This record gives sequence, structure tokens and C-alpha cells, in this order.
Amino acid sequence: MRELSCEAIISWIDSWAEVLIEKKDYLNELDTPIGDDDHGTNMARGAKELKVILKDDYSDSQQLTKKIAMALLTKVGGASGVIYGTAFLEMSQEIELSRMLKAGINGIIKRGKAEVGDKTLLDVWQPVSELVEVDSLTLAKIDAAVQSTKPMLAKKGRSEFVGEASIGHLDPGAVSSGYLFEQLVKELSK
Ligand SMILES: Nc1ncnc2c1ncn2[C@@H]1O[C@H](COP(=O)(O)OP(=O)(O)OP(=O)(O)O)[C@@H](O)[C@H]1O
Ligand SMILES: [Mg+2]
Repeated sequence: MRELSCEAIISWIDSWAEVLIEKKDYLNELDTPIGDDDHGTNMARGAKELKVILKDDYSDSQQLTKKIAMALLTKVGGASGVIYGTAFLEMSQEIELSRMLKAGINGIIKRGKAEVGDKTLLDVWQPVSELVEVDSLTLAKIDAAVQSTKPMLAKKGRSEFVGEASIGHLDPGAVSSGYLFEQLVKELSK
């Protein structure tokens, strides 16, 4: 059982936002062969909004998570904005961390209809959620989940249209989700 305080959530998401801004060009590059080279631009736009709303005062972790969801939904744009926004909106219904992640996954699936193995950010969220549940999430395991998307054939989103050519490239959303969970590991180790 692990519950995150408002302070911990702010620190976690603020550091994710920092990384997204820093990795904007790299995420755009990843989205070039299998998408429309905007994943970094989309996420960095959302990240700037996150940094603004995280400066407010919060005393309720669920309200804070809902605010994060709204920032992602309204500012990221593209498929990923809706997917991340829905994930955080569903997460705001829960308090305990592994339950939050499971709710987030249900939101991702409900909204995007992806399955594990379709080469999306779900291929990172699913193993991460299972690892958090048994308290064994590590940076190496996150990296393994991100790397697992490389040989996959894309079956959802824009990358589906490039077909076989999607094989051999990392999924950009899996990489931005990898950053999210790397920062979670750092937060949990404090
Ligand atoms: N149906 C889906 N389910 C889960 N994740 C998805 C789905 N569609 C796309 N994604 C994730 O979103 C990422 C792409 O995000 P990006 O910000 O580039 O949006 P986009 O696909 O360009 O959106 P749009 O085509 O609407 O502009 C993918 O790498 C993938 O991880
Ligand atoms: Mg794109």
C-alpha cells in the first residue's frame, strides 16, 4: 500500500515535465519514422502547462491529479493528449498508487482500444503497473519495457499506417511514459 502526498505528486510530475521539455527534439525525432514528428512538441506544450498548474496550492491529491489530467487533455493535443489525459483522469479516482496505475490503464484501453503488444505507451504502463504492485519497479525494468516496443509492429494510432516499417523503431509514447515512471522511481526512493 502506497499513497502519494500532494507534495510527492507535485515533485514527480514537475520533474517529468522538466524531462519532457528537455527531450522535446528527441521525442519529435522518434515520432518521425512512425508518425508525424510532433510527439515532443505536443508533450512539451503540456509540460509547460503542468509546470504552471503545479505552482498552485493543493491539499487533496485526487483534485491535484484531476488538474494534471485537465492540463494534459487541453494542452498536449494529438492522440497522446487524450490518452494521457484520460489516464490521469481515471487515476484521480483512486488514492493508492498501484490502484491509480490500474485505473490509468483502464482509461488508456477504454479511450484508445489498444492491447498490450500494439506498440503504444500501454506497453510501458502495463508492466510498470505490475511491478509497482509487487514493489519492484526499477529504472532497468522501465528501460526494458520501453525497449520492448522496438521490434513490435504498430497496430494503433498513426504509426499503424506505416505498417511493417514501424518495426525497429521505439514508440515515442512508450518513451515519454518511460520518463514518467523513471521520475516515479526517483520520487519513491526519496
Ligand atoms: N490508440 C492508442 N492507444 C494508446 N496509445 C496510443 C494510441 N494512439 C496513439 N497512442 C500513443 O500516442 C503516441 C503518439 O502521440 P502524438 O503526440 O504523436 O500524437 P499523434 O498520434 O500525432 O496524434 P494525432 O494523429 O491525433 O495528431 C504513440 O507513440 C502512442 O504511444
Ligand atoms: Mg505524432
